[in-house]
Amino acid sequence: MSAVRGRFISFEGADGAGKSTQARLLAERLRDAGHTVTLTREPGGSPGAEEIRKLLVEGDPARWSAEAEILLFNAARRDHLERRIAPALAKGHIVISDRFADSTRVYQGVARAELRDLVDRLHALMIGTEPDLTLVVDLDSPTGLSRGLARQSGEDRFEELGASFQARLRAGFRALAEEFPERVKLVDGAGRPEDVAARIWPHVAALL
Ligand code: TMP
Repeated sequence: MSAVRGRFISFEGADGAGKSTQARLLAERLRDAGHTVTLTREPGGSPGAEEIRKLLVEGDPARWSAEAEILLFNAARRDHLERRIAPALAKGHIVISDRFADSTRVYQGVARAELRDLVDRLHALMIGTEPDLTLVVDLDSPTGLSRGLARQSGEDRFEELGASFQARLRAGFRALAEEFPERVKLVDGAGRPEDVAARIWPHVAALL
């Protein structure tokens, strides 16, 4: 899966930071500029991975151990990569994914448990692909948490883990931006969606 011709962009951040809105706005802007865009999400993005998503995001927060969760996220990601991301990149599309492997690095690697080494080894074995650009939408945790829960989507398994968990997530994503400064860009998520989009655009323009 290495002969990539398109561009792969991921959005990351704690729950409610506004990354899904930003992923959609970026897809619209790129399509308006004449690019072919595949807009997708994780967990999910392919029929099999969407089925695994339901197992992951619904129900009791204690439903899975962190280790079992890592395996499920990787199973979903592998299917998503094989069936959706890699074929789109091979056709030259710009693929925008609302979350990718950095979510596992942060949620399962540091926020829920300290399993970063396991996360990295499984990623290297089964995924082995990184986005060309990762945009972390960074927002003050209480604001993000209230936005996420206000949605009452029935997909609150992680959001129900509480404010201190959300704070660990934010710190985890900020640390990733320091660890991978070339690829991972931190974007201030405060303000109106169009203001956040304007902060994102220069990073994308630099990639194209
Ligand atoms: P979403 O709300 O952005 O659709 O993501 C669903 C939840 O799954 C969210 O709380 C983050 C969590 N998640 C992980 O814990 N690890 C992962 O690898 C991914 C992709 C998502």
